[in-house]
Amino acid sequence: MRLSVNVDHFASLRQARRAAEPEPALAALLAEQAGAAGITAHLRSDRRHINERDLRIIRQVVKTKLTVEMAATAEMKKAALEIKPDVVCLVPEKPEELTTTGGLDVVAQRRVLGPFAGELARAGIRVSLFIDPEPPQIEAAARLGVPQIEIHTGIYADLKPGPERDGALAEVAAAAALGRRLGLEPTAGHGLDYHNVGAVVAIPELTELSIGFSIVARAAIVGVGRAVRDMVRLLEKRGT
Ligand code: PXP
Repeated sequence: MRLSVNVDHFASLRQARRAAEPEPALAALLAEQAGAAGITAHLRSDRRHINERDLRIIRQVVKTKLTVEMAATAEMKKAALEIKPDVVCLVPEKPEELTTTGGLDVVAQRRVLGPFAGELARAGIRVSLFIDPEPPQIEAAARLGVPQIEIHTGIYADLKPGPERDGALAEVAAAAALGRRLGLEPTAGHGLDYHNVGAVVAIPELTELSIGFSIVARAAIVGVGRAVRDMVRLLEKRGT
């Protein structure tokens, strides 16, 4: 199972102060050095975290695989064709949402998504569709001819352990199996953390997980000791 590390929230932290750090491209390089098989970033229409400048730098420095998540809009298509990520994952986007809240309605939007995906594919970009674990959506994705899907794990991830969560996990597993049967590469992501990831890793058809927030949150906490020690050392230099 490959891990693609989503670096959006390093940029969220930077944007909270409109500052120059933390640099998401540096986080991407460190993630690769630590074993990530890919880097993911979401270019949102409001540019609340990642922007084109970040993607240009990340594109240049990343040695593994760059996936850019984006809405299927004319503005985003232009950015994709300029930046040329290895993979574009098309996602629905609502301006008021804190994070992506569900998968694309491929059935309803097939006439928009088909030509959009086709244009990216002709530019050599592999296209993935972020979809809920629902058979009609997976079948619609297969009919559009995209090579890859990302199955939304957020419903599973938001539930507490119990029968309801087991059911949501079973839907993700069934979606992965159906995707594979239809010739799609099934990946998954959203809301995965250090507690809930194990059961998703066990789904044999999944090839890759996209994980962001929990890794950034953990990095902030496990890095506190080192960051404080570094600053204390500078303060101790007084009078030397
Ligand atoms: N996959 C998609 C399509 C997403 O939009 C996101 C969030 O940007 C993720 C995966 C990663 O989710 P999380 O940050 O909760 O790990």
